[in-house]
Amino acid sequence: MSEIIRRPRRLRTTAAIRRLVAETRVHPSQLILPVFVADGLTEPRPISSLPGVVQHSLDSLRAEAVGAVEAGLGGIAVFGVPLDADKDALGSAGIAADGFANQALAAVRAEVGDELVIIADTCLDEFTDHGHCGVLDDRGRVDNDATLGQYQELAVAQAQAGAHFVAPSGMMDGQVMAIRDALDEAGFIDTGILAYSAKYASAFYGPFREAVGSSLVGNRRTYQQDPANRREGRLEASLDEFEGADIVMVKPAGHYLDVLAEIAAASQVPVAAYQVSGEYAMIAAAAERGWIDRQAALSEAITCIVRAGADMVLTYAALEVAEWLR
Ligand code: PBG
Repeated sequence: MSEIIRRPRRLRTTAAIRRLVAETRVHPSQLILPVFVADGLTEPRPISSLPGVVQHSLDSLRAEAVGAVEAGLGGIAVFGVPLDADKDALGSAGIAADGFANQALAAVRAEVGDELVIIADTCLDEFTDHGHCGVLDDRGRVDNDATLGQYQELAVAQAQAGAHFVAPSGMMDGQVMAIRDALDEAGFIDTGILAYSAKYASAFYGPFREAVGSSLVGNRRTYQQDPANRREGRLEASLDEFEGADIVMVKPAGHYLDVLAEIAAASQVPVAAYQVSGEYAMIAAAAERGWIDRQAALSEAITCIVRAGADMVLTYAALEVAEWLR
């Protein structure tokens, strides 16, 4: 028998063959668009560290939500930005039923109904004057258990406003169970929990903090995870699953594909990944300089996140990527 070389390149011969054998396909219904909506705006305001992303006014947010439905996106994750004057130590502005962020959720729900999955950010950092994700004790440390009560009230207010999912992103221990309890108690048994489970203390959140006008001084390393730890990510995800999370999430995505792959392999619930502000901004900035191809780089990044095991991806490029997928 003559020697035969195996030729994997055969399956790369034409675009049609490559398309046929692609192991990973991204569909618009897997994409979730994070949006910012700021109190006091009449026009959208660009965010300088996130090219192409804006802080919405209530009106432009409604239009964006309709655009997301038309693009066939899976969901929209709403981040409300209050006036500085409305921030306090407890994040009360987030919890108030008539607070701006909850009004924004209600506006989106009124606009799109059940056509799009509406996800609320169940965290205090946008609303606290110290910028931390929880309330502080008398020594200035984030008080885990005192924060849980605030999250319960916040989640119920968000469910009331029309969120299909609440998404606790503050990394307090026990937050999923506490929120599930409160939602059930208030009758919101169908409101889901998308848990930011493996959320790392990342430098890649930089632009987000401009986007929400964060008041944070310092860092979140006492509650968000150390980027060095993979096993701990698995623990966080399995605890959240046990506590009743309907979907677990890994965040950031791009530099955490190993964590994502492990969690995806072990999880019994769907897994989301968040391509965070810094991941998006790096690509956007390099593309602006002509150093990389925006479409190719964003498409590749999203494909790789799905390849690693994400069932859904939060990305600031969701509308654009959905358009490219048409
Ligand atoms: C906290 C929250 C953050 C992000 C999403 N939810 C910021 C933080 O933890 O500091 C970051 C998202 C991004 O960078 O795109 N509410």
